[in-house]
Amino acid sequence: MDLYEYQARDVFEKHGVPVLPGIVASTPDEAKAAAEQLGGGVVVVKAQVKTGGRGKAGGVKLARSPEEAEAAAQAILGMDIKGHTVHKVMVAAGAAIAEEFYFSVLLDRAERRYLAMCSYEGGMEIEELAVERPEALAKVAIDPLEGIDKAKAMEIVAAASFPQELHSKVADVIVRLWHVYKNEDATLVEVNPLVRTEDDEIIALDGKVTLDENAEFRHEDHAALEDKAAADPLEAKAKHMNLNYVKLDGSVGIIGNGAGLVMSTLDVVAYAGEQFGGVKPANFLDIGGGASAEVMANGLDVILHDPQVKSVFVNVFGGITSCVAVADGIVGALQTLGDEASKPLVVRLDGNAVEEGRAILAAANHPLVTIEETMDGAAAKAAELAAAAA
Ligand SMILES: Nc1ncnc2c1ncn2[C@@H]1O[C@H](COP(=O)(O)OP(=O)(O)O)[C@@H](O)[C@H]1O
Ligand SMILES: [Mg+2]
Repeated sequence: MDLYEYQARDVFEKHGVPVLPGIVASTPDEAKAAAEQLGGGVVVVKAQVKTGGRGKAGGVKLARSPEEAEAAAQAILGMDIKGHTVHKVMVAAGAAIAEEFYFSVLLDRAERRYLAMCSYEGGMEIEELAVERPEALAKVAIDPLEGIDKAKAMEIVAAASFPQELHSKVADVIVRLWHVYKNEDATLVEVNPLVRTEDDEIIALDGKVTLDENAEFRHEDHAALEDKAAADPLEAKAKHMNLNYVKLDGSVGIIGNGAGLVMSTLDVVAYAGEQFGGVKPANFLDIGGGASAEVMANGLDVILHDPQVKSVFVNVFGGITSCVAVADGIVGALQTLGDEASKPLVVRLDGNAVEEGRAILAAANHPLVTIEETMDGAAAKAAELAAAAA
């Protein structure tokens, strides 16, 4: 999970990384009030979107008064930055920047350790620096068991060719950034720019933090950082139900068991859909091995609430779970959903106890359910029904 800059700022502050005061605003009025609250002096109004290069795109503006902050927020809110709409700005105290540096620490999967990157020449896009002046970007491997202590941080700043007089000061901040990385279970902490102000303070002016979602269980506070508004509501609902769901933009809802089967179902539906004017799958949904009535009902609940879905293809292969349980699951789910189940369902069952499973569906004789024997046949039927309903 990527954090917004204002969230990264808060996390930095919690771990003693020097940052400037910042207040989030959703309207120009709020931005003006925020600038007043910060003392009425120079502030910087910054677009809060989860992408870099905001400065270049016009999403970071200097404002010399609360009125200017209001106007800057007016200009930035609603702006599109690389496909991200700006819904919030952060009004941050203005820094008198003397120099800009770069620092990051990230997970190096290939080397099974962490990697710290640091440059005395910050400010510019780091990708550019890495290509144009690779020698200016120090890369220091970090042993996961040792982390970054003061000595390691001193080694990093020396490798990045910082002038001697800054070594200790910058190293102290790097050690604190390491605490953020380790204690919050991050996979990335990046500061660009880390600055030296005219008063010789070292401050993190921009922060990018990615948290490891696998570690959520030991960070109760991380759930609050999740951006529920920006996430797709169906994906959020599916996540809440512990379903493995990805929204796509077609019209045939897909439910299957096992990621491999679901992936090939997407292909088969897209292929069959070509005969019906380019009908495509509406989602990926793997209900896993269990396929109980409850899981099936949850899956159908999510898919049937997608307004783009015109038909649903349930493709289950009974392995350890018998087709009897799956058929009971489908019948049970349709009962649970009642009138909310309003779109045609094409069901293909195969494998363990397939005859008994099909018999259960046939006996239930639900008006919306069509039973197909083959995957290709079912895909074609589902695509046809979706095209007819479009
Ligand atoms: N609080 C601030 N005070 C003064 N200048 C700032 C402040 N925040 C950002 N800047 C300037 O704006 C530039 C871009 O801002 P930054 O937060 O790094 O956004 P991005 O990386 O998305 O372009 C920085 O390199 C810095 O020069
Ligand atoms: Mg930046």
